[in-house]
Amino acid sequence: MIDYTNIPSTSAEPEASSMIETFRAIGYSIETAIADIIDNSITAGAKNIWIDYDWKGSNTTLSILDDGTGMNNEQLIQAMRPGSKNPLDERNRDDLGRFGLGLKTASFSQSRKFTVFSKAKGYKPVFWTWDLDFVNQEKVWKLIRYIPNVENWTKKIETVETGTCVIWWDLDRLTKDTSEDNEEAKSKFFGIMDSVKSHLSMVFHRYMDEGLKIYLREREIKSWDPFMIGIDNLQSKPETRLEGGSIKIKGFVLPHRSKLSAEQYNYGKGPKDSWTAHQGFYVYRNRRLLVAGDWLGLFKKEGHYDLCRIQIDLPNNFDDDWQIDIKKSIARPPSIYREQILALTKDVRNQAVEVYRHKGKVLKRKLASDEYFPFWEERARHGKRFYKINRNHPLLNELLSKSGDLKKEIEKVIQFIEETIPVPLIALQESENEKPHGQPFEGIDHNAIKETMQKLFNGFVASGLSVEKAKARILNTEPFNFYPEYIEFITE
Ligand SMILES: Nc1ncnc2c1ncn2[C@@H]1O[C@H](COP(=O)(O)OP(=O)(O)OP(=O)(O)O)[C@@H](O)[C@H]1O
Ligand SMILES: [Mg+2]
Repeated sequence: MIDYTNIPSTSAEPEASSMIETFRAIGYSIETAIADIIDNSITAGAKNIWIDYDWKGSNTTLSILDDGTGMNNEQLIQAMRPGSKNPLDERNRDDLGRFGLGLKTASFSQSRKFTVFSKAKGYKPVFWTWDLDFVNQEKVWKLIRYIPNVENWTKKIETVETGTCVIWWDLDRLTKDTSEDNEEAKSKFFGIMDSVKSHLSMVFHRYMDEGLKIYLREREIKSWDPFMIGIDNLQSKPETRLEGGSIKIKGFVLPHRSKLSAEQYNYGKGPKDSWTAHQGFYVYRNRRLLVAGDWLGLFKKEGHYDLCRIQIDLPNNFDDDWQIDIKKSIARPPSIYREQILALTKDVRNQAVEVYRHKGKVLKRKLASDEYFPFWEERARHGKRFYKINRNHPLLNELLSKSGDLKKEIEKVIQFIEETIPVPLIALQESENEKPHGQPFEGIDHNAIKETMQKLFNGFVASGLSVEKAKARILNTEPFNFYPEYIEFITE
């Protein structure tokens, strides 16, 4: 460190009111905010967490009570302090925190006033409140010891031997200027609470499966397992370990729809209500889910990878490497693991596609009596071989039938292509080149195949073919026969 002893310095403390307003803009949703509060309860050893709310329009309150170790007065004041711990400090292995901010940023993101009531072993309950309007007015970082209806909350904290209750009591983001009897606002609020429930069922599912109980208004929330462990026909890949075993990666290919009951299929749609939205990586930090169904920028979401879900387990000391954010909703693999993760993922993704591919092939076999339409055909002329484009190929057929005045010209161009195809060169390359020849459309964007398949399907159905016949014909048409997995995603 440079020696600044004889250099002038001046204080430049953060301006309290503007700083707190900035905290509000971190981008929490109510779901991620409540999850952040629950992280603290779990770290404090809670076995039960009760989320409760009391709809009263703009006076609605929401509280999160736990039976963890609780805090005494001194600890509570420290906990209420923004930046109460240094992110660089080493943490206990079970600690779900990192920044010393979550309690404050999550609470401020939803409310202008919040109170923390806490009771530690051998201490009386204590409480302190942050009121944004008071901070704005006084322009100082000052907690106040005030909360409406103190007795209500005292009663609540008395129900646990030790524990903490976080109370949001000016939920301006959700209920500003709303009257209690506004039915529309009320049902919207209840709808939001429903999505809080499904979010928590996913984020904490591993803790819940190990005995943690989270209640929303007295009703226990059931866990949601993205991998549907224990279900028949689930394919799981062996676990891969990185960093001497501290990072674990395990791929799963979930069963195809035809192997699931309607109930199981709906379960698999998860909180986002969609199989496609739920494909991808599930990144856990200490068994707490940070990222649920995302390809982390490595791939796009596509229907034929719907069955693919990959679990990544991280401990809590790689936060910097994985760029974990304050909200605990982002994680990015560091570049040193990228190749390994990519290779492993490709393998799982291929296996997931194989399920659809197999289905497509079975459909093709079942309806195979249909004619096969290759693109190219071999013909003999004056004792010599030539390659011709199949005039009966459905795509060409359609193009020519629509081409009107251009028909003759298109025919001519096709003839020129046929007559100049470099067969000797191809033959030579085939025998001498070490690089294998790729299959049609390999390694390029497949949207053209998918869109053309759909168009062809629409045309076949419009011309009177049954849905099954139309699909079978597509599977018998080059190059679509190389991609039977896409047939599943044709919309009828
Ligand atoms: N429910 C609780 N029970 C006991 N202690 C708590 C509780 N909530 C917060 N604390 C204490 O307050 C501190 C600050 O919490 P806060 O969520 O702001 O930061 P953090 O959990 O340390 O880190 P992060 O910002 O990553 O969440 C915690 O480290 C913990 O010591
Ligand atoms: Mg925290």
